[in-house]
Amino acid sequence: RLLIIDFGSQVTQLIARRLRELNVYCEIHPYQNVTTDFVRKMAPKAVIFSGGPDSVTREGSPRVPQEIFDIGVPILGICYGQQVMMHQLGGKVESGHGTAEFGRAFVTPKGQLDILDGWFTDGDEQVWMSHGDHVSEIAPGFQVYGTSPNAPFAITADTSRHFYAVQFHPEVHHTPKGAKLYENFVKLAGFSGDWTMGAYREQMIATIREQVGDKQVICGLSGGVDSSVAAILIHEAIGDQLTCVFVDHGLLRKNEADEVVGMFRDNYNIRLIHADESDLFLGELEGQSDPETKRKIIGKLFIDVFQKHADTIDGAEFLAQGTLYPDVIESVSFSGGPSVTIKSHHNVGGLPEKMGLKLVEPLRELFKDEVRALGRELGLPQSFIGRHPFPGPGLAIRCPGEITREKLDILREADAIYIDQIRKHGLYDDIWQAFVAILPVRTVGVMGDGRTYDYACALRAVTSVDGMTADYYPFSHEFLGETATRIINEVKGINRCTYDITSKPPGTIEWE
Ligand code: XMP
Repeated sequence: RLLIIDFGSQVTQLIARRLRELNVYCEIHPYQNVTTDFVRKMAPKAVIFSGGPDSVTREGSPRVPQEIFDIGVPILGICYGQQVMMHQLGGKVESGHGTAEFGRAFVTPKGQLDILDGWFTDGDEQVWMSHGDHVSEIAPGFQVYGTSPNAPFAITADTSRHFYAVQFHPEVHHTPKGAKLYENFVKLAGFSGDWTMGAYREQMIATIREQVGDKQVICGLSGGVDSSVAAILIHEAIGDQLTCVFVDHGLLRKNEADEVVGMFRDNYNIRLIHADESDLFLGELEGQSDPETKRKIIGKLFIDVFQKHADTIDGAEFLAQGTLYPDVIESVSFSGGPSVTIKSHHNVGGLPEKMGLKLVEPLRELFKDEVRALGRELGLPQSFIGRHPFPGPGLAIRCPGEITREKLDILREADAIYIDQIRKHGLYDDIWQAFVAILPVRTVGVMGDGRTYDYACALRAVTSVDGMTADYYPFSHEFLGETATRIINEVKGINRCTYDITSKPPGTIEWE
């Protein structure tokens, strides 16, 4: 495996991404955790030092353990990582003097270098710079292989030890040949590029078995992709030592509970507690119309119910969670890292401490699309893997105002027709999230020869990358007309249909 030491660059995640694209297994660890002992235990085959916001000229700024230079593996230092390498190996780094560089720069070659195979085919090569400090004197043993107008030491290397130091960021899109540099680097480090989802699956199964031993594990299933993939993987590893708890709060979509429960019990034969607690949740929600109050009630009950069922499992020592890599990075990030999706509500947040459980998180190193690939590897159907996100509080936040069973039933029918329309027109995968909200107003209509006085609903569909910002989906008028007609004709209780064309910001995706 390859070790990436994170000095807090905004783009450290991209290094991991580039390596995975090369089928190389890597792990990112914040520099504080990387001690001599840690490195010895991990025994990486190669090491990359990331960029970072600090200055090596500042006393107390981040360093690597000096011994890392003696373990005899190739090392690549990027930006701050380059400066750390130079500084710790006897070179000099200076601040300022007008040599800061941000953005596009062109590197001119100075001789042949193995990690630059395939570079400089047409003279200078575009790279992306982002640095305030610069190396003013390279360390003994190093030579210069590329210069830019503001970085005389843009590319340096000590080829006898396979230490490479670059001032720019090869992992970003704006360094077009960057991927090639990583490819050359991992090749000379001896990686065969055989890290696949199949290999990951096998490796994780072994890791889970080792971690869990003969103890019991519980897992909260939400029906979402992450918890489902985590559960299936853990089940492969330890079989009936895993029990899943599916909390049905009565705020799920049409047939959702049956589909999820059916899939896990029938297709995967996983021990599953279907906690049908709709009476409890809907009872507590009665008369409540404030969005935050609703969320709090649901969050608290969720934990209570989960805990009640978890308590029935003798000897449960572990709680399984579908935590993804961006969540991990978010929690260790100390530089305000890249923008990642922050879940506004972790369903079982706080539970592990409360119940004294240890965590099993087999997806901690994966990105969302990699979790989907693992899901496919585990045989999950595409229709399940590509599902739109669904919020923890479910239909409660799509039912502004007071929640009643009647309204929820109407909403379920309308939502099912809307999603059916979207699938039929082949639009499901172009849309990030789509749903119906039932509005707390009744409006007058005429159907047949009679007067109606029924609910209005709003259709919502957005495009987004991470849910943080979103735009409404530009359906055709034909699609909207056909869908509204179907909903009004087929759903008793709705006589008016609107399309929500608010972007986020200023709106949010959900109505509450
Ligand atoms: P908003 O409405 O904040 O939604 O634009 C952004 C994304 O987050 C989901 N969402 C939630 N998910 N618990 C969740 O698990 C919540 O309380 C919650 N509120 C919003 C929403 O569905 C969208 O994908």
